[in-house]
Amino acid sequence: MGRPRHVLEFEFGKDEVKEILDLADRLKADRRLGVLGGGLEKRSVALIFEKPSTRTRVSFEVAIWELGGNPIFLSSNELQLSRGEAIKDTARVLSRYVDAVVARVLRHESIVEFAKYSSVPVINALSDLYHPCQILADLQTIREYKGKLQGLKIAWIGDGTNVCNTMLLASSLMGMDMWVACPKGYEPYEGAIKRARELAGESGSRIEITTNPLEAAKDADVVMTDTFVSMGKEAEREERLRAFLPDYQVNEELMKHAKGDAIFMHCLPARRGEEVTDEVIDGPRSAVWDEAENRLHTEKALLLYLLSKS
Ligand code: CP
Ligand code: NVA
Repeated sequence: MGRPRHVLEFEFGKDEVKEILDLADRLKADRRLGVLGGGLEKRSVALIFEKPSTRTRVSFEVAIWELGGNPIFLSSNELQLSRGEAIKDTARVLSRYVDAVVARVLRHESIVEFAKYSSVPVINALSDLYHPCQILADLQTIREYKGKLQGLKIAWIGDGTNVCNTMLLASSLMGMDMWVACPKGYEPYEGAIKRARELAGESGSRIEITTNPLEAAKDADVVMTDTFVSMGKEAEREERLRAFLPDYQVNEELMKHAKGDAIFMHCLPARRGEEVTDEVIDGPRSAVWDEAENRLHTEKALLLYLLSKS
C-alpha cells in the first residue's frame, strides 16, 4: 500500500486546488438534491479535537454524514492519549478502524507525528501553525465574490496567526498578492513566509510584510483578519490588545483604503470591538457567513478528493 495523502499545511498544487474548489462548488449547488450525494458510504472518519471548535467540528460532522459516512467525534481528553498513550500508537490503531483522521491539535508537531504513523489520510483541522481547511473555504468564497483568484490583492491586518500562515501559502500558490500588516513581534511564522516567497517566485505574485495597515489595505480586493488572542494565547491578552489596538482594527475607516468593492473576511470566532467592528462584520461588504458556510462544501470536496487518491 502506498503512503496516504495528508493535508497538514497546504500541500496542494494549483490544479489540485482548482479541482477541489470546482467540486466544492458543485457540492454546494447540489447539497439537497443529492445527485452528487454519497461517496463516503461505509467509511468512518475520526475527528480528534484537543481544542474547542464550533465551525470545524459541526461542518465536518455534517459533511461526512451528508456524504453517507460515519463521523466519530473524539475529544482528546476522552482518549487514552490524555493518559499518556503515545501519539504513534494511537495513530497506528485508529488507522486500522477508520478511513481518515481529522485532528485539531495544540502543537503542530503532534499532527506531523500522527501522520507519520497513520496509514490513512490525516487532515489538519487547525494547529498552532496552519489551518488548511479554513483556507480552502476562503478560496471558494473569494472566487464566488470576485470570479477569480489570480491577480487579486489580499490585505491581512493584525496577528500573523495560523490562518494567516496558511493564507500566505495559498495566495502565493494561486497567484494572489498578499500584504500582511502586523505589529513587530506578531509576524507570521517564518517557515510560512519562506515557503510563500518560493511559491510567489514561481507564480509571479507578491508577498509583503509591513507594520503599516493602511499600506496593506490600499486598493485591496479582500481584507482579512483573525482574533488578536488565539487559543492558547489567553495569558497574553492584555499585552496583545495594547500591541494591536487601535491601529490594527478593521473598521470603516480602514476599509475606505481598500477597493470600493472589497470584501471583508474572518475565519471566526470574532471578538467584536477588538480586531473588527460591528459595522464591518455586519456590513454589506462582509463575506463571513458565506465563508463559514463554505467550510462544509470544501470539507466534503477535500474528503472525496483525498479518499479517491488513497
Ligand atoms: N474557523 C474555525 O475553525 O472555527 P472553529 O474554531 O469554531 O472551528
Ligand atoms: N487563530 C485562531 C483561529 C481560530 C479558528 C486560533 O488559533 O484560535
